Amino acid sequence: MEVTIDTNKSEEEIYSEISGQLDSVIVPSDKLISNLSNFTALLKQAFNKISWVGFYISSGDKLFLGPFQGHSACTEIKIGNGVCGTSASSRETIIVDDVDNFLGHIACDSHSKSEIVVPIIVDNSVWGVLDIDSYKKSSFSNLDKINLENFCKFLSNKLELNKFILS
Ligand code: SME
Repeated sequence: MEVTIDTNKSEEEIYSEISGQLDSVIVPSDKLISNLSNFTALLKQAFNKISWVGFYISSGDKLFLGPFQGHSACTEIKIGNGVCGTSASSRETIIVDDVDNFLGHIACDSHSKSEIVVPIIVDNSVWGVLDIDSYKKSSFSNLDKINLENFCKFLSNKLELNKFILS
C-alpha cells in the first residue's frame, strides 16, 4: 500500500495527514509486527527531522528493540536506564532537547542530538515505549508530544496490545 505525505507542509498539517491515513494503514487482521513496522515507516517518511523511530517493548525489567526505521540500535535497555527506560519507569513522555544534557542517555547513534520518548501504557502496565531521535537539537515540541501520545493510544486500542506479551 502506498501512502503519500507532503513533507513540505507544516508539522500540524503533517500530523493531521497522518491521522487521516492511520486508520487505513493499521489493520487489526494483520500481524502486530507488520502494523508496528508500517507505523514507524509512516513517521519516518513524514518527518525529515526524524533520524530514528521505533518501539522498545517491555518484558520483565527490560525493554527490547521492536520494529524500527533507522540505523541498527541497542537491543535491550533496563527499565530506569537511558531516556527510554526513564520514560518507562516514570510513565511520562520525555522530550530531550540536547541528549548531551540528559544524564545516562544511551547513544545508539553518535549523531543523535535530541529525542522524544512516549510510554505506551496498557492495562496500567508499561507495554513499551515509542522512541524518536533527531540529528538536530530541540527537534521535538508539545505538538509532537500530543500527537504521538494520541497515536500510541490509537495503536493500543486498535491493535489490542494487551493481548500481546513479549516472551
Ligand atoms: N537514546 C535511547 C536509546 C535508544 S536509541 O536512541 C535508538 C535512550 O537513551 O534510552
